[in-house]
Amino acid sequence: MGTKPLIEKLREKNRQALEGGGEDRINKQHEAGKMTARERIDKLLDKGSFVEMDRFKAHRCTDFGMADEKILGDGVVTGYGRVNGRQIFVFAQDFTVFGGSLSLAHAEKICKVMENAMKVGAPVVGLCDSGGARIQEGVMSLAGYADIFLRNVMASGVVPQITAIMGPCAGGSVYSPALTDWIFMVQNTSNMFITGPEVIKAVTGETVSKEDLGGAMAHNSVSGVAHFATVNDEECLLKIRELLAFLPCNNMEDPPRVECTDDPKRRDEKLRDIVPEDPNKPYDIRNIIRSNVDNGYFFEIQEHWGANIVIGLARMDGATVGIIANQPSVMAGCLDINASLKGARFVRFCDAFNIPIIIYEDVPGFLPGTNQEHGGIIKHGAKLIYAFCEATVPRITLITRKAYGGAYCVMSSKHIRGDINIAYPTAEIAVMGADGAVNIVFRNEIKKAEDAVAEKKRLVEEYRDKFANPYKAAELGYIDDVIDPADTRPKIIEALRMLRTKQATNPPKKHGNIPL
Ligand code: HXC
Repeated sequence: MGTKPLIEKLREKNRQALEGGGEDRINKQHEAGKMTARERIDKLLDKGSFVEMDRFKAHRCTDFGMADEKILGDGVVTGYGRVNGRQIFVFAQDFTVFGGSLSLAHAEKICKVMENAMKVGAPVVGLCDSGGARIQEGVMSLAGYADIFLRNVMASGVVPQITAIMGPCAGGSVYSPALTDWIFMVQNTSNMFITGPEVIKAVTGETVSKEDLGGAMAHNSVSGVAHFATVNDEECLLKIRELLAFLPCNNMEDPPRVECTDDPKRRDEKLRDIVPEDPNKPYDIRNIIRSNVDNGYFFEIQEHWGANIVIGLARMDGATVGIIANQPSVMAGCLDINASLKGARFVRFCDAFNIPIIIYEDVPGFLPGTNQEHGGIIKHGAKLIYAFCEATVPRITLITRKAYGGAYCVMSSKHIRGDINIAYPTAEIAVMGADGAVNIVFRNEIKKAEDAVAEKKRLVEEYRDKFANPYKAAELGYIDDVIDPADTRPKIIEALRMLRTKQATNPPKKHGNIPL
């Protein structure tokens, strides 16, 4: 008889597995503007590199007539492959099979991928498109979620974890994505919420659409839960490839270096004119960032939320750097709750994955107001301090203009282990702005003066001359150098090269107690 019938059986099983929930459901998926799980994996990975695992796995549920309803793969396609030639692990929920809902078997497949990724030190990308817990399985499904949460936490800081929400993601199932490093969402086809519009209507009487409640822009611009919004599946998957290209595969590796095609010594005289003379005039810090990084390529993260701080990845001298910058064009670059949360999490990500951080500082202080105080700016601002203080990766700070008050200390100052701190001649490093300082210190002199306006002007100028510059801090060694803005790129690159062999540690402990 030979092996022919056996091969035939294997072929048949493969055919069954590949067709997922069947042609009708695949058509429905396409009509909804979504790719199937397998199409998504193909787009994400280098051509032909996908190796599937557990293609024949099925659920073990016998209730609600499920014993007769087995679909090979059980609603999730899992395995490994390469992105830009480097190993990653992937799982993609298949909405055409039981709505991509999570059975215990489905969860076991995801856990297997995560365990393998941890074992070999490779990133995990999860593509979510699921109706949530497999209703027929009850607590077995919940157990599956908890198993995944545990592995998300164990993998955190060991391998990069990226999630794309590409369909529904409701109830407790939102927490696995939330435990990963980065969340992508696709506009109009994805949503995330703990309780959907119907439950909200019943409990609070509030009427809200799915998109407004938990769509891509709701989470990218309002809640800050997600970090990227893309127009469709394809853009989402290509953007994940772009992100992965910056990252090391695990916490024991340095990020990948690429050949640098941009002169490391390149100067830019236009930088001399970007910071306005008037300290109250805004400018876009991204113009300085883009001028400094290789080929002007800045991969911004979470651009729609907490826009008073800018975060993202770039390359300098061919190596990955993390960038965190106060944004003077949004709320004057003040630090508030959202900026603190956004910045702190990014600093910790970079530190976990050996990515040097470049800090661009132009910050008038923390945002005043009862909203901020009662919203807990004290504990949230403390997160940013905590993150910088504990970070041992190379840190280079450039003060372009204001470094006032507590915000001076926070933004990776020398005192909290900033490695190289440099300033433009336009830098003002002081307890506060000249105007505020004169109002407090010289209140009586101004009141007594014959011409109060002229006297105040004179005092403001005197204060600015004396204190609103970088030279006092430079005299004290708190600033290593004051530089010509045209030299920013070469100066940062020299510092990065010098710091390549940096060694720094924190005291041994179980873990710190970051003010959550
Ligand atoms: C089993 C499910 C399912 C689920 C959908 N399906 N969700 N099967 N368990 N949770 C099945 C449907 O029966 C249907 O099967 C197919 O998937 C497609 O679903 P449709 O409803 O036809 O699709 P659509 O109209 O696009 O609506 C998608 C949906 C809706 C919004 C996701 O299906 C839905 O509301 N599902 C229930 C969501 C839910 O309440 N989940 C539990 C959340 S609580 P057929 O055979 O007809 O194609 C939770 C707790 C997790 O997840 C706790 C973790 C700690």
